Amino acid sequence: MLDKNSKLYIPEHVGIIMDGNGRWAKKRALPRSVGHKFGAQNFRKITRYISKTGVKVLTLYAFSTENWKRPLDEVNALMKLFRQYLVDSLTDFREDDIKVVFIGDRSAFDPKLRELIEESEQVANDRKGMLLNIAMNYGSRDEILMAVKKLCKNVRDNGVDPDSLTVDDISSNLYTAGTPDPDLIIRTGGELRLSNFLLYQSAYSEFYSTETLWPDFHEEDFDKAIIEFNKRNRRFGGV
Ligand code: IPE
Ligand code: IPE
Ligand code: MG
Repeated sequence: MLDKNSKLYIPEHVGIIMDGNGRWAKKRALPRSVGHKFGAQNFRKITRYISKTGVKVLTLYAFSTENWKRPLDEVNALMKLFRQYLVDSLTDFREDDIKVVFIGDRSAFDPKLRELIEESEQVANDRKGMLLNIAMNYGSRDEILMAVKKLCKNVRDNGVDPDSLTVDDISSNLYTAGTPDPDLIIRTGGELRLSNFLLYQSAYSEFYSTETLWPDFHEEDFDKAIIEFNKRNRRFGGV
């Protein structure tokens, strides 16, 4: 557990690309869906832990717009897990006062899952603790396209001058509108890429990659990432 009295700076917004469930299962000669099950359990545990560290916003990448390309049985297993874990997590997250918001295009999910998503958001609406963004059917390119369309419509229908548009107009039309950009993006599973996660918002995020596979990423691994983050010199283009 991070020592509350330590001088460590706790990032305001952390994003996590929860990768490596499939490889975790493969190493144990288990089906990929079992890896996802353990990954989902870890999601609940680590979220509760992070909410106690002082992080204000946590964005977790659970399913990308490209993940529909996977075999149907894997996609179905993931959807089933989402339904189960949404319900189970509700109690945990209530205890920790975590506010839950889903980012991504939810219209692609079946009605039952959409209902659960809306219900989890509603019951958490007044909570004052950490904001948890769960990115599901999320893709940054889609998100940016959505923002561009809204701005174009504003120009066409409301006489907005295109030359008056600013980078803040783009930010405020993304799913993450109103939240600070991520300070730190953690990726488990060792890949060194963003895979369509928070492309616009991560312009100046610090990137941390670990070989640890998502189901094995525990509290001490998160602490390590925070310690490493504290060694970074963020210049934002300055000197
Ligand atoms: C991440 O684990 C979970 C999702 C993308 C839904 P993977 O399923 O991508 O696991 P690997 O990368 O194949 O090991
Ligand atoms: C990124 O992982 C998406 C999530 C963790 C939800 P992927 O496993 O889909 O990414 P790639 O295919 O290795 O880039
Ligand atoms: Mg992967």
